[in-house]
Amino acid sequence: MLEVRSVSKHFGGAHVVSDVSLKVGKGGIVGLIGPNGAGKTTLFNLIAGTLKPSQGAIHLEGAEITREGAHRRLARGLGRTFQIPRPFAEMTLIENMLAAAQAQTGERLFANWVMPGRVAGEERANAEKAMAHLEFLGLARLAREPARVLSGGQRKLLELGRVLMADPRIILLDEPGAGVNPALLDAIIERVLEINRRGVTFLIIEHNMDLVARLCGHVFVLAAGRLLSEGMPEDVVRDPMVIDAYLGTGAA
Ligand SMILES: Nc1ncnc2c1ncn2[C@@H]1O[C@H](COP(=O)(O)OP(=O)(O)OP(=O)(O)O)[C@@H](O)[C@H]1O
Ligand SMILES: [Mg+2]
Repeated sequence: MLEVRSVSKHFGGAHVVSDVSLKVGKGGIVGLIGPNGAGKTTLFNLIAGTLKPSQGAIHLEGAEITREGAHRRLARGLGRTFQIPRPFAEMTLIENMLAAAQAQTGERLFANWVMPGRVAGEERANAEKAMAHLEFLGLARLAREPARVLSGGQRKLLELGRVLMADPRIILLDEPGAGVNPALLDAIIERVLEINRRGVTFLIIEHNMDLVARLCGHVFVLAAGRLLSEGMPEDVVRDPMVIDAYLGTGAA
């Protein structure tokens, strides 16, 4: 599904990602772990197209996407959530969801003139789709509330909903468990599993190893920009090199 080949990213002299290669198979849920500052979010930005690598290549379903912009990648089915969700605070949940909907004919002024019926139909379809996703995420009763009322965990769920509006085939989740209370954490895990059962592949950055162990069959460990280890979560956490990497930065 996704292949990262010898990708590096440096900002001036700072080598933030160094020669990282990894593969994510179709239908999998794969983890990306590592201490704070390891380069995990930077790697997501490279995969999603927010940043361009200094070296290396990225392939999605066999096509090279290394130089494509984030919008093009999203249109290809590569969605991502952000480490710190920033919904439009004063817009309602449903409005936040609709703002994320892709390729709305209504955004093209000409289309509004020549086919207003079709535009209205698309809007209705998008609204129904947004409502169905909010329902699925347990947020339906808050659909008409402004996003600012949401807790940290509910914001993570809304982020997931916004990504789902684009009908992605692979989703990159950046710390879905951070700042989420235990009850909502279970809800997030269940939703991810259900979306995965519907055929969506996941790559997940997460510090909460309980979440990682429950979701991921395979994890990659990044430390100081380099791939340090990979394997099943239960094996990787026992790897002395991995333990060292976490203790070395005081992040364990
Ligand atoms: N635009 C940038 N310019 C310079 N340095 C950057 C830039 N973006 C990130 N970095 C540096 O790259 C390193 C890795 O950052 P990154 O956010 O990718 O880490 P992370 O693994 O996601 O950490 P965390 O677990 O804390 O989220 C950090 O030292 C950071 O300061
Ligand atoms: Mg990060």
